[in-house]
Amino acid sequence: MNNPSARMRIFSGIQPSGVLTLANYLCALKRFVELQDSGQECVYCIVDLHAITVWQDPGALKDAIRHAAAAFLAAGIDPGKSILFNQSQVSAHAELAWVFNCVARMGWMGRMTQFKEKAGRDRENASVGLFTYPSLMAADILVYHATHVPVGDDQKQHLELTRDIAIKFNHDYRRDFFPVIEPLIEGVTTRIMSLRDGTKKMSKSDPSDYSRINLSDSADQVAKKIRRARSDAFALPGQASELASRPEARNLLGIYALLGNTAMDQVLDRFGGKMFSQLKGELTELAVAVLGPISAEMNRLVGDPAELDRILGDGAERAASLADPILQQTYDIVGMLPSRRRN
Ligand code: TYM
Repeated sequence: MNNPSARMRIFSGIQPSGVLTLANYLCALKRFVELQDSGQECVYCIVDLHAITVWQDPGALKDAIRHAAAAFLAAGIDPGKSILFNQSQVSAHAELAWVFNCVARMGWMGRMTQFKEKAGRDRENASVGLFTYPSLMAADILVYHATHVPVGDDQKQHLELTRDIAIKFNHDYRRDFFPVIEPLIEGVTTRIMSLRDGTKKMSKSDPSDYSRINLSDSADQVAKKIRRARSDAFALPGQASELASRPEARNLLGIYALLGNTAMDQVLDRFGGKMFSQLKGELTELAVAVLGPISAEMNRLVGDPAELDRILGDGAERAASLADPILQQTYDIVGMLPSRRRN
């Protein structure tokens, strides 16, 4: 269905469930800016409704939504080129998610690793929203008839489920209505790991702040976290084939490559045979040079919440004008009467 010569419509989202991390920047925001600057039509969303699948302090959530908006802008998202908004302002997302809850199967949701990880052992006590989370995610994307979705590797399974929902909907209602999306999971590294454990992903919700670099961290905090990052006892590898058995080295080298827009081979050439301490020193310098201006701009932007709210409100209006007609067509396809209130 996707004609490669046709223009792409990009959609992606980030949860405001804490301060955004280096992983969100390297594997998501940075890619979002590249796609925007390559002239694609981009819709970017702060997925606040997803955040409340796990309880959030209401005051802290409001701050986190504005903080996330500031991070998008500071990273280079231009609201004149891309649509930037928060999910709860465009009700079509939640409405289409309901339709998708009726298309998706219980078994599909139960297989999602993110659900299993977040619900943990006490599944009976997880929110129903956490279980149906992927329906809302599919709705986020498909309510725009988006074609391409840039994400980190951890979201791959959710995007496969989005494809399954589109295919089943099209099959059940005998229409070629929803596009079968293409995940864009690209880059030298597509999964950034915890600084404390190279086998666990870096996450906003990890209890240890030393496991991640936050976009709001000061230069001193960045330096301290990199210095304390776990390492192993050997010299750094010089060959890509050695990386699989060296998760901490692979992670720090991958972060260095992404931050500096350098190929992994070049990074391996530079650091192969050297000690971790040298990599950590150079990585700190690079991270501070790249992240310093972003965190300074974020701090400036969060000082003007009214302006952030204006940008999100304006984005929400533009998003709704794309989403509402697609939702109405969906309602028509599944057999609802036309809404007199909306038309
Ligand atoms: P979230 O908020 O956890 O993460 C936002 C983006 O950052 C990427 N990411 C990572 N990439 C590599 N390594 C990591 N350690 C890492 N941690 C986070 C994620 O892959 C993502 O691209 N369910 C999504 C939000 C969402 C969404 C959507 C995304 C809701 N609806 C529709 C795309 C399209 C999530 O929780 O991302």
